[in-house]
Amino acid sequence: MKYLTPWLCLATIVLCGDHDDISSQFGAARELRTWDEAYALAKTFVAKLNTAEKISLSSGSGISFGPCSGNTQDIDRLGFREMCFQDGPVGVRGTDKVSVFPAGITTGSTWDKELMYLRSRAMGVENRLKGVNVALAPVAGGLGRAPAAGRNWEAFGSDPYLTGVANAESVKGLQDEGVIACAKHFVGNEQERYRLVIENIPNLDREILASLSSQIDERTLRELYEWPFVDAVEAGAGSVMCSYQRVNNEYSCESTTLIRDHLKSNASGGLNFKGFVMTDWFASAIPSLAARAGVDIIMPGDIGATGIVAALLPASDGASTNGTRLDEMVTRLVASWYKMRQETDWPDVSFSTWSSDEFGVFLDRGYIGQINFHAQAAQPVHATLIRRIAAEGTTLLKNTGSLPLSSTALSIGVFGNDAGPIPESSCGTFGACSAGTLAVGWGSGTGTFEYLIDPLQAITAKAADIGAVVESVLDDYAYTEIREKAAGKDVCFAFVNSRSGEGTNSVEENYGDRNNLTAWRDGDTLVKTVAASCSNTVVVIHSVGPILVEEWVENPNVTAVLLAHLPGQESGNSLVDVLWGDVNPSGKLPYTMGKTEDDYCCKVQYDWTGFQPEQEFSEGLFIDYKWFDKNNIEPRFEFGYGLSYTNFTYDANSLTITEPFDEVDSTDFMAPLFNISVSITNSGPVAGKEVAQLYLKYPSSTSSPVRQLRGFEKLSLQPGETKTAVFVVTKRDVSYWDSGEWKVARGAGYGVEVSASSRDVRAQGVVTF
Ligand code: NOJ
Repeated sequence: MKYLTPWLCLATIVLCGDHDDISSQFGAARELRTWDEAYALAKTFVAKLNTAEKISLSSGSGISFGPCSGNTQDIDRLGFREMCFQDGPVGVRGTDKVSVFPAGITTGSTWDKELMYLRSRAMGVENRLKGVNVALAPVAGGLGRAPAAGRNWEAFGSDPYLTGVANAESVKGLQDEGVIACAKHFVGNEQERYRLVIENIPNLDREILASLSSQIDERTLRELYEWPFVDAVEAGAGSVMCSYQRVNNEYSCESTTLIRDHLKSNASGGLNFKGFVMTDWFASAIPSLAARAGVDIIMPGDIGATGIVAALLPASDGASTNGTRLDEMVTRLVASWYKMRQETDWPDVSFSTWSSDEFGVFLDRGYIGQINFHAQAAQPVHATLIRRIAAEGTTLLKNTGSLPLSSTALSIGVFGNDAGPIPESSCGTFGACSAGTLAVGWGSGTGTFEYLIDPLQAITAKAADIGAVVESVLDDYAYTEIREKAAGKDVCFAFVNSRSGEGTNSVEENYGDRNNLTAWRDGDTLVKTVAASCSNTVVVIHSVGPILVEEWVENPNVTAVLLAHLPGQESGNSLVDVLWGDVNPSGKLPYTMGKTEDDYCCKVQYDWTGFQPEQEFSEGLFIDYKWFDKNNIEPRFEFGYGLSYTNFTYDANSLTITEPFDEVDSTDFMAPLFNISVSITNSGPVAGKEVAQLYLKYPSSTSSPVRQLRGFEKLSLQPGETKTAVFVVTKRDVSYWDSGEWKVARGAGYGVEVSASSRDVRAQGVVTF
């Protein structure tokens, strides 16, 4: 009888499973124009512009001169209002009455396409209601080459396929509300250190003259770092942001190879991107080079001056369509605007990201007056969605039976600063601090909290409901008090975290990137101290990425470990949902957790030798699990791993691989080529969700990774229920880049694995072309 409540709840949650309760609360998607329609209108519009007006649209209006992270200028004569470009990937930053959504890494951990879409759809609503034209999201680079790199959490995980799917769903979500999505950072932006010459790293004994160069071979660019951008472009992304650092010794934002040939070209291998390319903020020191390479708008601009440089280009220089480069730049920007139909019923920008004062100045339009209007953007259903995503992304790493908590667990200890509230100040505008619970990382990708339900608050509320008593110690170092309070408890929660963010800020001398992969504030000692006194210790981790758990993960008193990633504003509530079994955990790791930092392919480059910083991506395609597989390294928890409160049985005999629908040669790159399916049964006691994963093992002649993710499906299953996971495989999914083109290996078989994680293979087959 004592398990009745959790199990009933589980059944309820899973029955509403496919998120219809949430999706039904969004209206119809905005009807977007096709690119052809949008271009036709844009060309007519651009034909009416004089040169000065075109110049004004070729760059932003200057940092902090307008209301948003970036702005263009008004063209009053034609009734064209300044466009607002606003951060960021967890919601509208730098204003009030908005939500802070779970980070990309949490969303990737759900492996749930619908949640990926709905998260961005809700962000689209909030951006639109605030008058934002271009949301500076989603993020697919950094992909997570180096686990300590500062901004990996903004993206969805260390695999290009998983990130690509999430990227496409995110673009659709934003744009279905009419907000232009910006796929960033293109490309190779895999650490914070040395990304930008003007960024100040203390104690540097040498002067940096050029940003770090990521040295990446072409195959790796195409198959790994550019892969998720293909999905964003296919989904119709209106804009792409080129990245700060250099690639192969050229600035990304000044690279004709990257922007014109890879991104914009429709020749073989080109992504045929139709929207506009913006620089990252101050990423181009020489805007004329950026414009020639294919950048369409220089951000944040310097009161138009950078645009003037672009305009001085000879008429034919770098133009990839008929007409001048300047015309093309402006046409692409305006086409994206028309594609989203922003010329009708688009709200005015109603906030200033630079000041929370009621009244102020916008220099770019000579405006003095009210600058913050407090438009209500956050909606009740967004809070429900945030809680759902955070709970479904939560990854159960270890469970010897203590979870879900039984109704007899009535004395509860909560330990660690990560369980508690964040300081009033929200850790500054960019969330850069190490105090309180970790709900998102820091930097331009952070969020602005209206509220944040911390774990202690939510656990205390739950305890009050069930008649339990909570004692807590939030001081990570108060070991004596922790020992005393942990003793004799029915259950103890030990909270630890690991933080990182953008290189704009440093926290405890972590300059964006983490200095190591261990828990902050000596979290390992905290866990060991709690576990020494409490035989039922549940560890909760909030982390920006992989974290080392070796010091305590096998301790028998550590009965469960939950990785709650970066949950956003509903942190505590989503955690309680999982702890007490209202939600059966179904998150799976979007990266590998190694036993030491040395197990990984790559580290952040903290220093450099030679003339200017350069980083050889000599591991090629072999990052994260591909590196562990290649080198036979035993991870602590592998990519794709995550436990449930129930069990799933895969019927290996049910594996079905259809014949290719068409001749491989005649099939479009992105079109479905064949299907793979397998039956899965919930063979445990409660309802739950399983993420079935498809890995392909390319023939050895292709020198590819041992296995590569090429599909995933999340199934919602009642106890005893069986469903079929169907993976739709495209030609792209079996292609590799060789000698300047995509190829499919002929004659030799591709191994097929349907798995519960990258190392838990449940059904195998072969497909040959
Ligand atoms: C720099 C960051 O790299 C980028 O992601 C962000 O959108 C811009 N700054 C604007 O804040």
